[in-house]
Amino acid sequence: MNILQARDLTKTYRIDGRHLTVLEDVSLSARHGEFLVVSGASGSGKSTLLSLLSGLDKPSQGRVFIQGKDITDISEDDLAPFRNRVFGFVFQSFHLIPSLSALENVMFPAELANDRDAEKNARDLLERVGLAERGENFPHQLSGGEKQRVAICRALVNRPKIIFADEPTGNLDSENGRSVLELLLDFQQASQTTLVLVTHNPDIAKRADRVVVLADGRLARGADHGA
Ligand SMILES: Nc1ncnc2c1ncn2[C@@H]1O[C@H](COP(=O)(O)OP(=O)(O)OP(=O)(O)O)[C@@H](O)[C@H]1O
Ligand SMILES: [Mg+2]
Repeated sequence: MNILQARDLTKTYRIDGRHLTVLEDVSLSARHGEFLVVSGASGSGKSTLLSLLSGLDKPSQGRVFIQGKDITDISEDDLAPFRNRVFGFVFQSFHLIPSLSALENVMFPAELANDRDAEKNARDLLERVGLAERGENFPHQLSGGEKQRVAICRALVNRPKIIFADEPTGNLDSENGRSVLELLLDFQQASQTTLVLVTHNPDIAKRADRVVVLADGRLARGADHGA
């Protein structure tokens, strides 16, 4: 069963009265537990695609279904709690909240979901990634690799069904990049989570169940499983 299905997604921006189509007729699906890599040159539309798939942004045309539910037109009020419970996000540049400690950053989505075990789960995750002692530290006191590990804990704290990761190792040296990738893959495999990961790195792509390649806003290959 496809947990994620996108049909004919098109995204057009209007700039100075002109239309710029950055994504065109992209159809894509992902299965439960699948590791899907999205690849393609800079500017080909990878981040745009991720923001449409995750409901952070709306397509100009086309539809997105998550667990069979059409999320394309639902209101932000209805979408936000759904997104918080079903999706986990990892960004290239961490996106931690600077005024919150590492522990508070990880707890944040769990508190939004009224999870009574928010703190315990957050502490467990930080321990798993070797940061048990750093929970009280603020993002500016952490290295890039540490920040990304905190960001991954935050993405995992609500046990998401789908993780969207936009070049999560892009800002890390190769050793930190490897450990961050292993962390994501361990979780993906242990929890049978779907992982949609944007990367240019062929070594990472090699490990994916499937690779789709964007070129100028269109899918060049790997598009679909069918229904
Ligand atoms: N808000 C926006 N307004 C206008 N154009 C945009 C906007 N956001 C993105 N674009 C354009 O859409 C195209 C795709 O951008 P996107 O960020 O999805 O590319 P990408 O594949 O993620 O690139 P990179 O590998 O550099 O991160 C680019 O040409 C970009 O300039
Ligand atoms: Mg991008």
